[in-house]
Amino acid sequence: MMDKLFILSLIGILMVSGVVAKMVYTDLDILEKLENFDIPEDDDDDTKLFDLPSFTSRSSGKNLVNVDTFGAAGDGVSDDTQAFVSAWNKACGMPKSVLLVPQGRTYLVNATKFNGPCETKLVIQIDGKIVAPDEPSNWDPKFQRIWLEFSKLKGVVFQGNGVIDGSGSKWWAASCKKNKSNPCKSAPTALTIESSSGVKVTGLTIQNSQQMNFIIARSNSVRVSNVMVSSPGDSPNTDGIHITGSTNVVLQDCKIGTGDDCVSIVNASSNIKMKKIYCGPGHGISIGSLGNNNSTGIVTNVVLDTAFLKETTNGLRIKTYQGGSGYVQDVRFTNVQMQDVSNPILIDQFYCDNPTSCQNQTSAVKISQIMYRNITGTTKSEKAIKFACSDSVPCSHIVLNNVNLEGRDGQVEAYCNSAEGFG
Ligand SMILES: *[C@@H]1O[C@H](CO)[C@@H](O)[C@H](O)[C@H]1NC(C)=O
Ligand SMILES: *[C@@H]1O[C@H](CO)[C@@H](O)[C@H](O)[C@H]1NC(C)=O
Ligand SMILES: *[C@@H]1O[C@H](CO)[C@@H](O)[C@H](O)[C@H]1NC(C)=O
Ligand SMILES: *[C@@H]1O[C@H](CO)[C@@H](O)[C@H](O)[C@H]1NC(C)=O
Ligand SMILES: *[C@@H]1O[C@H](CO)[C@@H](O)[C@H](O)[C@H]1NC(C)=O
Ligand SMILES: *[C@@H]1O[C@H](CO)[C@@H](O)[C@H](O)[C@H]1NC(C)=O
Ligand SMILES: *[C@@H]1O[C@H](CO)[C@@H](O)[C@H](O)[C@H]1NC(C)=O
Repeated sequence: MMDKLFILSLIGILMVSGVVAKMVYTDLDILEKLENFDIPEDDDDDTKLFDLPSFTSRSSGKNLVNVDTFGAAGDGVSDDTQAFVSAWNKACGMPKSVLLVPQGRTYLVNATKFNGPCETKLVIQIDGKIVAPDEPSNWDPKFQRIWLEFSKLKGVVFQGNGVIDGSGSKWWAASCKKNKSNPCKSAPTALTIESSSGVKVTGLTIQNSQQMNFIIARSNSVRVSNVMVSSPGDSPNTDGIHITGSTNVVLQDCKIGTGDDCVSIVNASSNIKMKKIYCGPGHGISIGSLGNNNSTGIVTNVVLDTAFLKETTNGLRIKTYQGGSGYVQDVRFTNVQMQDVSNPILIDQFYCDNPTSCQNQTSAVKISQIMYRNITGTTKSEKAIKFACSDSVPCSHIVLNNVNLEGRDGQVEAYCNSAEGFG
C-alpha cells in the first residue's frame, strides 16, 4: 500500500515536470524493481546456533575440540599458533566438531591459513581473545595480506563472544597514509573468509586490525550478525567489513567504528543486504572503489535498510576511478539516519586514492538505478548531496525520495554533474 502511494506520488511529479509517457513507464519499471528486490534475511533454521552448555554436555552429539587440549597456553605471550593449527586439523577432519577457543584467556597466534574443506557441521566457537604478534618486522612475508584466513569452507558457523585483535598500532604507524616517507605497502587483514559458502558469523568482535578488519572474498551465502568491529578513527585503511567477489551476503545488527569504510563492497559482488548497521567513526558505507588502473568493476543489487551513521567522513558513497569500466546497478539505500556526517550522499566518479593524481578519461564505471529513500539527519558539509558523475558516462536513474538533511546553520545544497534521475 505504502509502495503504491509512493509510486503514485512519483507519477505526479513526473507528470508535472512534463516527462514523456514512455519515459514514465521505464522509470516506473525501474522504481518497482528498486522497491521490490530483496535478499532474504537471517533464515533461522538452516544452521542452528549452539550455546556452550548444550554442546559441552555429552548428549549434544558434538565433538568438542578445545585449543587448550593441543597445548595452547592462552597467556597472550606464548606462541599458540601450532596448537591452533593442530586443533583445526582435528576439528576440520571430524563431523559435528566444535573448535573451542575458551573464554577468559588470550591466545597469541601468528598469520595462519585454516583451509577446508572440512567435515560437516563445523562450529568455531570463539569465546576467548585471539591476538596477533604486534611487530610488523617479524611478520612472515608469505602472509603479507592475511592474519587469520579461513578458506574453502561449506556450512560453517563462527560464533561466540570472543575477540579477534590484530594488535595493529605499529602497522598503522608504518603506513604511508600516516607518514608520507613510509613506503605504501599492504598489511594483513585480521579475519578473512575466502572461497567459502554457507558461512555464518555471529557475536564476535574484530578489532585493531593491521589493515582491513574483516574480508569476505569470493564467497557465496555469508551471514554476519551481531558482529562488532572496532579500530581507531585515525587508523589507516582499516575497513570494517570488505566484500569482494561475493554473492548473497547479509550483514545484520553490526556496529562498526573504524578508520576507513565501515562497509566496502567491491568488484564482482551482488545481492548484498545490510540491515541495522551502526557506523562511526569511519568513512561511511561504500560501494567501491571500482575501476582503479583501468579495471572492470561490477556491483549489483545492494540494499541498505536501517542504518545510523555518526560523525563519519562520508555517508552513503559510491566511488569509482576514471578509466574503469563495468557498472554499479540497482542499489537501494533506505531508512538511514545521520548525525554530523560529512558528504552524506555521495557519488564520486573522480575518486583517486593513488599516490599520483588520476587523469580524467573517457571511460568510467557506469552508475545507474540508485535509490535513496528516507535519509534524514545532519550534515557537516555544505553539500549534503553530491553527484559528481563522469561527463562521458553519466549517472542515470538516480531516485531521491524523502531525503531530509540539515546543515548546522540550516542551509545545505546539492551538487550535480552529469547525473539524471527524479525524486
Ligand atoms: C610465529 O612467528 C614468530 C616470529 O614472529 C616465529 O618465531 C615463530 O616460529 C612463529 N610460530 C609458528 C608456530 O610458526
Ligand atoms: C616520518 O618518517 C620519517 C622517516 O622515518 C621521520 O624522520 C619523521 O619524523 C616522520 N614524521 C612524522 C610526522 O612522524
Ligand atoms: C572483477 O571481477 C571479474 C569477475 O570475477 C574478474 O574477471 C575481474 O578480473 C575482476 N576485476 C578486478 C579488477 O579484480
Ligand atoms: C588507462 O587507459 C588510458 C587510455 O587508454 C591510458 O592513457 C592510461 O595510461 C591507462 N592507465 C593505466 C594505469 O594503465
Ligand atoms: C595496472 O595494470 C597493469 C597491467 O594490467 C599492471 O602491470 C600494473 O601493475 C597495475 N598497476 C597497479 C598500480 O595496480
Ligand atoms: C525512516 O527511517 C528511520 C530510521 O532511520 C525510521 O525510524 C523511520 O521509521 C523511517 N520512516 C519511514 C516512513 O519508513
Ligand atoms: C575532470 O572532470 C570533472 C567534471 O567535468 C572536472 O570537474 C574536473 O576538474 C576534471 N579534472 C581534471 C583533473 O581535469
